[in-house]
Amino acid sequence: MTLRPLEGRVALVTGSSRGIGREIALALGRAGAAVGVNYRRGAEEAGEVVAELVAGGGRAVALQASVSDGADVDRLADEAVAALGPVDLLVLNAGIASRGLPIADTDPDEVVRVVYTHAINAHRLTSRLLPGLRAAARGDVVAISSSEVSAMRPGGAPYTMGKAALEALAFTLANEEAHNGIRVNVVAPGLVVTDMGAKLVKAKLGLDDMAALDAEQPFGRVTRPSDIANAVLFLTSPGAAMVTGQRIVVDGAVSASLEG
Ligand SMILES: NC(=O)c1ccc[n+]([C@@H]2O[C@H](COP(=O)([O-])OP(=O)(O)OC[C@H]3O[C@@H](n4cnc5c(N)ncnc54)[C@H](OP(=O)(O)O)[C@@H]3O)[C@@H](O)[C@H]2O)c1
Repeated sequence: MTLRPLEGRVALVTGSSRGIGREIALALGRAGAAVGVNYRRGAEEAGEVVAELVAGGGRAVALQASVSDGADVDRLADEAVAALGPVDLLVLNAGIASRGLPIADTDPDEVVRVVYTHAINAHRLTSRLLPGLRAAARGDVVAISSSEVSAMRPGGAPYTMGKAALEALAFTLANEEAHNGIRVNVVAPGLVVTDMGAKLVKAKLGLDDMAALDAEQPFGRVTRPSDIANAVLFLTSPGAAMVTGQRIVVDGAVSASLEG
């Protein structure tokens, strides 16, 4: 297998200035794809991701846009294509946590904001990029969901509603676009060591250091962003050409051990 299996492809990764998206952008870029590094506020961090890819001989560009805003989403799609060419690999990663309140106490505006960010504008972005995805020899869409969708825990409604709708988008798209050569899959992480993960652990467990959780994990450590990036890399690689409409949970056996 070639060392750069994504050579010639054009990727856009939403929310890739930090955390999981950053590792996905770096992995896809190192594999040869040109990468649009989308960010909302983190211009400096996005610039670092781009600089690292360019230093490695790759092509990358930082693209500011909030995926919470419809007009921004349209502009993001158009700027990505203008800068890099038609996008044939889209990773729907950008996401925000919800406040953790029960449905009875949740402001409806929060539900709208969270579901728009995760799902409704993911629909909008995907739809706008579909002509390029269809025209390519191969198209890929990977949605970053969450293992929380299987749990539907109390207090998680805006977030799990957003992720469940994102998964519905992905699986419907897989059925609609297979004949156009587009593969669509879902990666569902458990807890991951990122800023979002750290905030969650602080809020729920009062812990300042996520590493404190390593010892109690089935595989001896909490999942890292690179573990999620590896799953995305596999799904978009030539080796996964016949894989579509699938959901891969990457949580280090946490949900498996709960069931056991
Ligand atoms: N961490 C976990 O435990 C975990 C578990 C399951 C699923 N996930 C999912 O994985 C994805 C990435 O999470 P993460 O942990 O890496 O999050 P994170 O550490 O909070 O990083 C979020 C990234 O998304 C960007 N972003 C946030 N809101 C955005 C918006 N409206 N428009 C564009 N970009 C935006 C941020 O950019 P700026 O810095 O520029 O704002 C940043 O690059 C999310 O969809 C999350 O729901 C995370």
